[in-house]
Amino acid sequence: MIKEILAKADYSTLSVEEIAILLSAEGEDKALLFETAAHYKQQTVGSKVFLRGLIEYSNKCAKDCYYCGVRSSSTAYQRYTVSDEEVLEAVEYAYKHNFSSLVIQSGERHTVAFTNQVTRLLEKITRITNGEMGITLSMGEQKKEVYAAWRKAGATRYLLRIESSNRALFRKIHPDNKLHDFQTRVDALRLLKECDYQVGTGVMIGLPFQDIEILAADIDFMRKIDIDMCGMGPYIEHEDTPLYQYKHLLLPLQERLELSLKMVAVLRLVMKTINIAATTAMQTIDSNGREKAIRIGANVVMPNLTPLNYRENYYLYNNKVGVVDDVKRGLDSLTENIEATGSFIAYGEKGDAKHYRDRKNKDKH
Ligand code: 5AD
Repeated sequence: MIKEILAKADYSTLSVEEIAILLSAEGEDKALLFETAAHYKQQTVGSKVFLRGLIEYSNKCAKDCYYCGVRSSSTAYQRYTVSDEEVLEAVEYAYKHNFSSLVIQSGERHTVAFTNQVTRLLEKITRITNGEMGITLSMGEQKKEVYAAWRKAGATRYLLRIESSNRALFRKIHPDNKLHDFQTRVDALRLLKECDYQVGTGVMIGLPFQDIEILAADIDFMRKIDIDMCGMGPYIEHEDTPLYQYKHLLLPLQERLELSLKMVAVLRLVMKTINIAATTAMQTIDSNGREKAIRIGANVVMPNLTPLNYRENYYLYNNKVGVVDDVKRGLDSLTENIEATGSFIAYGEKGDAKHYRDRKNKDKH
């Protein structure tokens, strides 16, 4: 059955049932899936890996998500916002090292003071890098005017994970109130498109109450929304969060990683020209997790450039890696490991998603 599916000429139209079959592959079937996806990746996005310097800008957050270590009701961490000077230092590091793109991520906040502060920061970044940096934001749900202002100030990409595209599961992992509303999140993805961002979403993999059918529907959701980028990775429990009580329902960590790799492989087959990130959570489970993802479909990595003194407070889940890493040392080993997968880092390229360009061209015609 798996062989037949993988022998198809066009993977973009795989049915949800076929996607679920691929996600259930084990043993030889799984090896075949990974081989096929690795080969397909070479033919479609090639062997380039794009670097995005990640700045975890602030852990202050209005939301209280049941899985997240820095949810608003947690008192375990000191709340911080990186100063503009420190952000610009990290940006300069990235610029000097030819990264050509950045991700600025923070907790979700809606005050005008916060959103204006981000606008001003974006203007500064654009100025000091002569507009040569691709800037991705990941700052949650915002009003259309805010998305538009940030776009105008220089951000061109936005990541907003749906976390789970299954309404019932989304409800279980978030408080039941207006601030955590499934439809608002879906609408936000549409607003981002209307503001002409390259739009990314993603899900957590291995959540309690999640099954293969739900994950297959997640991939279908990404296809229907017609995303340009995806960042997804294993769910890793954090003991100070409400979801921790379901720890006994979880797959072993290694299996969550394997399932995440299958998700990357299948998404690559279904959406051949999007950018897919090899995420930190994968590396947290297996020091080689990101490289495994790159081999079978991912083409983006996001080395952490957050100033070291803040990192211990951006603790989304247990044992999050990179909290004490030296940037330079981390980069050297990353480069080496990526080259060992037969890929190479595309220094100096912004690395826009080919999917976005194709989408724009289609609109024109
Ligand atoms: N395990 C894995 N990923 C998590 N995130 C938050 N908490 C966890 C966790 N416990 C992810 C969410 C969010 C991103 C910033 O971090 O998917 O979108």
